[in-house]
Amino acid sequence: MEEDLKFPTVLKNRIELALKSAAYFDKELKGQILAIKESIRSIEEREPHAVGHSEKVAKYARRIAEQLDEKLILEENQMSKENFLKEIFLAGLLHDIGKAGISKQILLKRHPLNESEWEQIKVHPCSAYLLLRMCGERLKDMSLMILHHHERWNGSGYPYGLKGKEIPLGSRVLGIADSYEVMIAGRVYHEKVPPLDAMSEIVTMSIGEDRLYDKDVCRAFLKALKASPLDFSIKKKDEHIELSEELETKLSL
Ligand SMILES: [Fe+2]
Repeated sequence: MEEDLKFPTVLKNRIELALKSAAYFDKELKGQILAIKESIRSIEEREPHAVGHSEKVAKYARRIAEQLDEKLILEENQMSKENFLKEIFLAGLLHDIGKAGISKQILLKRHPLNESEWEQIKVHPCSAYLLLRMCGERLKDMSLMILHHHERWNGSGYPYGLKGKEIPLGSRVLGIADSYEVMIAGRVYHEKVPPLDAMSEIVTMSIGEDRLYDKDVCRAFLKALKASPLDFSIKKKDEHIELSEELETKLSL
């Protein structure tokens, strides 16, 4: 318990240190990422199945973003695709740093959580946002992507219940990358889902009026899976192609 209480402060210091040279962000990107990865690992080690989660989310998010239309990125984020890819990768790495403020007891509890426990979980995007905003203006876009990574297209997400395109594009990408990774890795509160089933589930949740995810981002997700299945833990060659095509049709109906 005492260790739990000290943990957020220790972590905050380490992340601040890692991000302090934000002015040299691009030049020093490699070194920054190494330092960030080390800090993230200490959060993830507190939760079984979560080790490596942020790094995978970062990679999936970048793969998905690679398939997005350049014009869409410029329109919604006022940034070049190249910069968007860098931002989304870092946002993926850092998206769960706010979990440092959640006690191990809650992280390790099997769901359902009670109301006050949920409140603690729901605050983690805000904690991450506040922490990153203290690290300088350079991280503003990325902080917003992280703040809204649990918002859902139909308004059912948190912390603000934003809907549709009110949710930043980067957060919509992170949402799919994060959910897919959690499904295939499993958690204390649910079993692992095979990657092809997880793929179908994400598509099902991107269809209809009450959908959770953005259709355009889901389309990019399917394209990314087709282009680099191994990166999405789909091991057997070609087993995803037929399914991707079937799902693409389902998504366009
Ligand atoms: Fe999260």
